[in-house]
Amino acid sequence: GATHFYDFVLKETNFTRLCSTKSILTVNGSLPGPTITVQKGDTAFVNVHNQGFYGLTIHWHGVKQPRNPWSDGPENITQCPIPAGTNFTYEIIFSTEEGTLWWHAHSDWSRATVYGAIIILPSANTTYPFATPYAQETLILGSWFKGDVMEIISDALATGGEPNISDASTINGQPGDLYSCSNETTYRWLVDFGKTYLLRLINAVMNEEKFLAIANHNLTVVAQDAAYIKPITTPYIMITPGQTMDILVTTNQPPSHYYIASTSFVDGNVNFHNGTTTAILEYNGNYSTPSTTPFPTLPDHNDDTAAENFTKQVRALASEDHPISVPLNISTSLYIAVSIKERICADSSCAGPNGNAISASLNNISFQTPSISILQAYYGGNTNGVYATNFPDIPPHFYNFTGDVTNSTLYPSFGTRVRMINYGEGVEIVFQGTNVIESENHPMHLHGFSFYLVGTGSWNFNSTTSPTTYNLVDPPEVNTIAVPKKGWAAIRFVADNPGVWFMHCHLERHSSWGMDTVLIVRNGNTSESTIRGPPAYMPPCSNS
Ligand code: C2O
Ligand code: CU
Repeated sequence: GATHFYDFVLKETNFTRLCSTKSILTVNGSLPGPTITVQKGDTAFVNVHNQGFYGLTIHWHGVKQPRNPWSDGPENITQCPIPAGTNFTYEIIFSTEEGTLWWHAHSDWSRATVYGAIIILPSANTTYPFATPYAQETLILGSWFKGDVMEIISDALATGGEPNISDASTINGQPGDLYSCSNETTYRWLVDFGKTYLLRLINAVMNEEKFLAIANHNLTVVAQDAAYIKPITTPYIMITPGQTMDILVTTNQPPSHYYIASTSFVDGNVNFHNGTTTAILEYNGNYSTPSTTPFPTLPDHNDDTAAENFTKQVRALASEDHPISVPLNISTSLYIAVSIKERICADSSCAGPNGNAISASLNNISFQTPSISILQAYYGGNTNGVYATNFPDIPPHFYNFTGDVTNSTLYPSFGTRVRMINYGEGVEIVFQGTNVIESENHPMHLHGFSFYLVGTGSWNFNSTTSPTTYNLVDPPEVNTIAVPKKGWAAIRFVADNPGVWFMHCHLERHSSWGMDTVLIVRNGNTSESTIRGPPAYMPPCSNS
């Protein structure tokens, strides 16, 4: 494959949104940041020059990075932050993915403004598994906060309560004309009549799942998380934070303007329903601008059935050119309860329920990010005081998980506990939603792998009956799945990528509250199954 070079300059830049101007951290002064475009099999070197005020890292979301955790990016998991005033070059190896992914900062809440698209085109001499589109367009869903994002999360963690919700959702950095002072800057996607476009859609929103639709136009979803699926033609989609979709849109309507609109799917947590972000699909040509622009019908913010009706249709393409290989022999099996709970607040005056603080956990362990890099500790063999290897394989207690877990059941404990996995093992993880405080799906994301979503179901996972419902024929291969709030999701993958891999909820507040852990895949016994050596320079860990 070819080699590409990019310079990313992290710097504060003034932006005006929602009638006021503030300084935000950007890459190269733009929001969203620059797009990385490669072909499958290529390598990109991205030199990140940190001209901001604080240390930061960048993550290449959904890129497997075979044997190369050094460039994966999560702060204090695979590297220490790039100190302000210095630079670090990431080497991004594109191996198996094809389609749309994205990159984002991976330090506290800095990803709110530091994100952009990754486009992985078919490699030379191969084509899309559908007719070559006339042109492409990228739409990134994001969040805009009037306040400073790093302060918002540090304040929430200090008080133990909910962080402020975003003041707007955005499409390509713009709130759209339903928000104040946003009419003239509404994002416009210009199209020709009678063509089929490839829309690359990314959910970079901080804290909400999203519905999206285009007035009078169907969406044909052909890929998710940079893997092809059997085409789904639908009037709307539901996309969870972290996910990406490739969607064919045919411009077969009378030339005019049509709304593209996206709303939050937040069910029980109505506080996170913060308005509708819009863009305009605008046909080129000579016609009089319509007096009213058609608006799409979107499901209600709490329409579980609409969300499920879309997501349950997703199946891998599983063709000869795009085969799948679900492991059938499982030697590591984890059952992980995903919970938001209260935790005791020292002076019982925290801002969470009952004067307690909110915390999040996996198997009742609320993850504590260490102060130095887990990868560097692991590679150097100095793990004492950095992490422990006793992440539990099952929850500490069994109960009817969905809906009746009281806080008296068990408060979470805190720690940096990881799970070791041998190279080449077949791994199954069942995530069990528990629906204690916040009634929302959890978009669980794993670094270093795409995995197969082999099953989902309502209520408790049953180890006898649930596996009989698995799809082992054409399960979607993804990097993020919405674990149903009142149900379970089962994933499988082969541990064929040695390294230190973060696994966490992609709702940013849940991750900040501790809904995270780390899988460490040991080296195998060949050079192709061994972590590469570290780059000559890694950001120093001493001053973090
Ligand atoms: Cu897109 Cu660890 O994240
Ligand atoms: Cu979550």
